[in-house]
Amino acid sequence: MGSLFVRGGIPLHGTVSIQGSKNAVLPMMAAAILHSGTTILKNCPRISDVLFMTEILKSLGAKIDWEGHTMRIDCASLHSWKIPSIYGVQMRSTTMLLGSLIGRMGKCEMPYPGGCMIGKRPIDLHIDGLKALNVQTEERTCAIRAETKALTGGSYCFRGKSVGATENMIMAAVFAKGCTILSGCSIEPEIVWLCRFLVNMGAKIRGIGTGNLQIEGVRELKDSEFSVPSDRIVAGAYLLAGAITRGTVILEDAPVEEMGSILSAYKKMGGQYEHSSGKLVTNSGKICSPLLFIETEVYPGLPTDLQSQLMAVLATIPGNSRIRENVFEDRFKVVADLNKMGCSIAVRNRDAYIHGVSVLHGAEVTARELRGGAALVLAALAAEGNSCIQNYHYIERGYEDISRDLALLGGVCRRGDGDPEENNEIQE
Ligand code: EPZ
Repeated sequence: MGSLFVRGGIPLHGTVSIQGSKNAVLPMMAAAILHSGTTILKNCPRISDVLFMTEILKSLGAKIDWEGHTMRIDCASLHSWKIPSIYGVQMRSTTMLLGSLIGRMGKCEMPYPGGCMIGKRPIDLHIDGLKALNVQTEERTCAIRAETKALTGGSYCFRGKSVGATENMIMAAVFAKGCTILSGCSIEPEIVWLCRFLVNMGAKIRGIGTGNLQIEGVRELKDSEFSVPSDRIVAGAYLLAGAITRGTVILEDAPVEEMGSILSAYKKMGGQYEHSSGKLVTNSGKICSPLLFIETEVYPGLPTDLQSQLMAVLATIPGNSRIRENVFEDRFKVVADLNKMGCSIAVRNRDAYIHGVSVLHGAEVTARELRGGAALVLAALAAEGNSCIQNYHYIERGYEDISRDLALLGGVCRRGDGDPEENNEIQE
């Protein structure tokens, strides 16, 4: 499955460009199915979740070509509404095809979604919402079937916040007859970008950026070209890589306007930054303050996807910090491996109690999901000695080439096939 070898103890200094956003491009790829023509997506990250979504779209009849980071999706000859069961386990994003397949084909059959082991991740809000658009659903043992005779606009208020369910409802409503009124929508940047992408294709959406959306059904969309925004979570992770090594890191193309909550936490810890001419210039030399209490929230609160990485940084700041995870019910799986590196973290219910230490030590650890894997990379960068992080494939789901990016910041890490003996070669 591959490993990442990291040499620790090197403060990061340098400049890195931020890749396109995984959580923005995946719904855009799903939405491309709505149009029986060509969609060009620029600045696409070449990460395994995107490559995997490409395979799913191709299995439905889409033609997809790459040129560098530009993806061309031609859905003129889309012929299937059934997602092969083999695709269901690996990733959750198959769920977001529900709305677009219903919109395009009037039906969809898909395996229950898989994804990272961060919680149960039900899809009741997706199913509930689609019913309001005259979609009938049938839940079988390991598959979901949805169908409509006439996709009809309606009103639906989400009883709980869900990024994916909001995205599905928006996509299903694009062609629904009449007007659809959605309230209680999630307002994450990825949803704003999806709406902008759909409007660029000819959809009629009002209230973009708010929790209340009005979608006027249209009859068709048009060929379009759109640039995927930068990844706010990758940018946050590289900001925190500078923080954990007390370095000075410059992020190019970081979506600073979407990073308010993590920048505020960074400043509270003692980080300094300024944003000018598209560069976020950071200095972590004075980081020394623990965070007595911080909690993850839906946007614009602290993103759950940065919780593990922030926990790793706090583990290196002497004093006591506490993080509460409010979004997913099982997102502290990385704690055991962080503690193997000398962290002192205890979990009670939804809270992680972090007793900061001044030295971490390199170890052989295992990534169990994408963002926890990124947290282990950060801890390895700060640790004394070398580390080997197993299950690199989790990290590849969201990072195009983390070794390349960290090397631009002076970090020393290398991919391997998992033999810890290789660890010594990184000594140099
Ligand atoms: C999206 O997942 C992101 N994934 C996640 O990023 C992100 O953590 C999450 O939003 C929250 O911001 C993509 O965009 C591909 P939710 P999603 O539906 O849509 C519960 C990463 O690492 N819920 O907002 O699946 C659910 O169990 C990934 O990049 C229901 O109860 O998240 C969770 O507790 C991880 N019923 C909460 O809502 C439902 O029908 C938030 O889930 C749907 C969700």
